[in-house]
Amino acid sequence: MTTRLYGSPAGPTRRVTVRDLAAAKDVGDKWPMITSYDAITAGLFDEAGIPVMLVGDSAAMVVYGYDSTIPITVDDLIPLTRAVVRGSSRAMVVADLPFGSYQEGPAQALATATRFMKEAGAHAVKLEGGERVLPQVEALVAAGIPVMGHLGLTPQSVHGLGGYRVQGRGEAGQILLRDAKNLEVAGAFAVVLEVVPHDLAESVTRSLAIPTVGIGAGRHTDAQVLVWQDLAGLTPGRPAKFVKQYADLRATLGDAVKQWAGEVVDGSYPDADHQYD
Ligand code: KIV
Repeated sequence: MTTRLYGSPAGPTRRVTVRDLAAAKDVGDKWPMITSYDAITAGLFDEAGIPVMLVGDSAAMVVYGYDSTIPITVDDLIPLTRAVVRGSSRAMVVADLPFGSYQEGPAQALATATRFMKEAGAHAVKLEGGERVLPQVEALVAAGIPVMGHLGLTPQSVHGLGGYRVQGRGEAGQILLRDAKNLEVAGAFAVVLEVVPHDLAESVTRSLAIPTVGIGAGRHTDAQVLVWQDLAGLTPGRPAKFVKQYADLRATLGDAVKQWAGEVVDGSYPDADHQYD
């Protein structure tokens, strides 16, 4: 029987490693990666069998309330990463290096990644960009730190990209393909492809020996990632086109809180079943 990363009782019972992800690519085994920022969701997603969790800098928006990922700092993300590592026992936990914590060069990237590994217990790090971050990727890999790349719509560059828009159309697709190959050569163990045309994601996926992780990149990538609040219907406002909402937690939680508040006000909570003699 083939051991699958997700959905197989014979899957790893220890922490998932980069070798498991490489093996999954070899046999065409697709897998899910989800964001997590706290111990409770980490435990829940771990029990659900999710093999890889990302402590994304999306925490800037969904945890800290900023309107982009740019303001979040290493000091903001380390406690969240520590909580996700503590809350899980099987998933590989990938920590996102935030804007300004690796762009200066390999030495800065190594210092930041080292903090995530030592202080938070992360198992890997992710950073955004192609050509310009190759020296950083090489330095981290040389130090034994697994690195996930991130191409396409790289939210830390939102101002340079002119907004949250589809990347890699036309000739830009060739640059993205080249960047992806260079990340593989530099030693990255996987590459996120965010908001790119599905046929480009498919050809990148076919061209690489390492797994691609899609978000808004169609169905042909080796893995998929979503921000958990998006897929659970907790994020306010209109979701991006690529987001499929599998629940309506915003309504469920809102209703629960309103019901509880109403019962507090009318005196029906706490009742006899929820108090001590
Ligand atoms: O920060 C994040 O959550 C991410 C994923 C959406 C890929 O980078």
